[in-house]
Amino acid sequence: MKLVLPSIKYEQSFREAMEEFKQAEGKKQDIELSLVKRYDESTSFTEFVEKLSGEAEGKFLKEGYVPHTIFWLVDNEKFIGWLDIRHRLTDHLREVGGHIGYAIRPSERGKGNGNKILELALPKAKELGIMSVLVTCKEDNVASAKVIEKNGGVLEDMRTHTDGITRRRYWIHLK
Ligand SMILES: CC(C)(COP(=O)(O)OP(=O)(O)OC[C@H]1O[C@@H](n2cnc3c(N)ncnc32)[C@H](O)[C@@H]1OP(=O)(O)O)[C@@H](O)C(=O)NCCC(=O)NCCS
Repeated sequence: MKLVLPSIKYEQSFREAMEEFKQAEGKKQDIELSLVKRYDESTSFTEFVEKLSGEAEGKFLKEGYVPHTIFWLVDNEKFIGWLDIRHRLTDHLREVGGHIGYAIRPSERGKGNGNKILELALPKAKELGIMSVLVTCKEDNVASAKVIEKNGGVLEDMRTHTDGITRRRYWIHLK
């Protein structure tokens, strides 16, 4: 199991995972909706991967977005999930998204992959110079709160944003 940068090498498994996300029952988290939507809007897989890669270098960013690096968690050729590291915080990210977002494909949940992806994310954050990592989750996202706490997250507070949603805000201090 390892983190890789987005690559067309994983196209088939990635496409299968996106179908799983779409078909999964229940209310989807913002992070799930964001990548699925972007994938759907792309005209080709190559273009999709190029855009993801470019955003890490500050290219193709939407207004108000900061450079961010997406990594895919893979097990051999199989796509398991992804994470997104924002290189710095904005006022919005400080309340809503934090530095790191992650999602595991529905068929691979409940097997420790959530804990693993955040564990693997932390050295990547450090490489980007982020020593205090803000990770947030919606108040009722029990699985994500456990993942953050298991990875050393210290709860700062719970804040209700202008969207009416209350989020837990955790800091992970890296050494
Ligand atoms: C949150 C998410 C990444 C967790 O992934 P996962 O692979 O199921 O996580 P794990 O198997 O490592 O489990 C992590 C912990 O959550 C617990 N857990 C998993 N699913 C749970 C659920 N539905 N309800 C309660 N606890 C749950 C596990 O028991 C485990 O606890 P433990 O470490 O004390 O044993 C996954 O549910 C997901 O992708 N959700 C949608 C996207 C999302 O919410 N991202 C986070 C945004 S902040």
